[in-house]
Amino acid sequence: MDMAWKIIQLLLLASVTAVWGARPKSQKGKKNLLNVCMYGKHHKKEPSPEDKLHDQCSPWKKKACCSVNTSLEAHRDVSLLYNFNWEHCGPMKPACKRNFIQDTCLYECSPNLGPWIQKVNQSWRKERILNVPLCKEDCESWWEDCRTSYTCKSNWHKGWNWTSGINECPVKNTCHRFDFYFPTPAALCNEIWSHSFKVSNYSRGSGRCIQMWFDPAQGNPNEEVARFYAEAMMNGAELHGAWPLLLGLVLLLLLS
Ligand SMILES: *[C@@H]1O[C@H](CO)[C@@H](O)[C@H](O)[C@H]1NC(C)=O
Ligand SMILES: *[C@@H]1O[C@H](CO)[C@@H](O)[C@H](O)[C@H]1NC(C)=O
Ligand SMILES: *[C@@H]1O[C@H](CO)[C@@H](O)[C@H](O)[C@H]1NC(C)=O
Ligand SMILES: *[C@@H]1O[C@H](CO)[C@@H](O)[C@H](O)[C@H]1NC(C)=O
Repeated sequence: MDMAWKIIQLLLLASVTAVWGARPKSQKGKKNLLNVCMYGKHHKKEPSPEDKLHDQCSPWKKKACCSVNTSLEAHRDVSLLYNFNWEHCGPMKPACKRNFIQDTCLYECSPNLGPWIQKVNQSWRKERILNVPLCKEDCESWWEDCRTSYTCKSNWHKGWNWTSGINECPVKNTCHRFDFYFPTPAALCNEIWSHSFKVSNYSRGSGRCIQMWFDPAQGNPNEEVARFYAEAMMNGAELHGAWPLLLGLVLLLLLS
């Protein structure tokens, strides 16, 4: 086989690889991970502006997956969203409750959770979030604010007595302080919603963790975070997809 021909082939292969790698990011298919709403019980199909989002949900008003009604319900003790009672072991301290309201606002309103959306087979939703990297300070203050309130379970998704229509503690689960069921901040944030969160060791403002709390005057910091993780995930998938093809081309050249 002619040497010149082989060199031309190699140059072609190199340029194909280079073009592949240099494609604009927007063509890499990560689009469906950004600016999306999960297929949950109350989520809108697509994010859009909601001028009137209530109180703690208002940071999401420029682009939200929740309706105004959902944002109002998120602030009620036993909201109609899930008939879930935060005060299943007596009154919850207001400082603690505001963390649960904020958590609900993030879950219902955020259009930036795409990289962590997973399909599920549940009667009340078709998709969930898994391992969202919650900024460590947001988790720590949630735990601090709640450690002296009371609960009877460490997983709030499963195992309730629903006979009355509202979650009640099963008779075998006694009420204890939060720090009995959740000895550490990570135990709280990771376990309470079956690993919807995985507390990050990144800090607020790092651009590498999701903030439950933010000042909308500075924009929504979670947009950048979602973009970063979407890109990391797509590049991983992309390289895995590209390797067999590249190896095949190289072998073809060597053998010809
Ligand atoms: C708000 O949402 C709840 C729960 O989905 C629903 O039962 C209620 O009728 C809604 N209220 C309004 C005013 O749309
Ligand atoms: C969900 O349920 C359907 C029907 O019951 C089943 O065919 C499917 O495999 C399930 N999917 C998952 C992810 O478990
Ligand atoms: C569930 O709650 C009902 C009352 O709402 C009670 O009668 C029943 O014993 C409870 N069951 C369990 C297993 O806790
Ligand atoms: C956590 O922090 C350590 C040390 O600062 C760092 O090496 C590691 O990559 C971090 N991991 C995550 C998931 O943030």
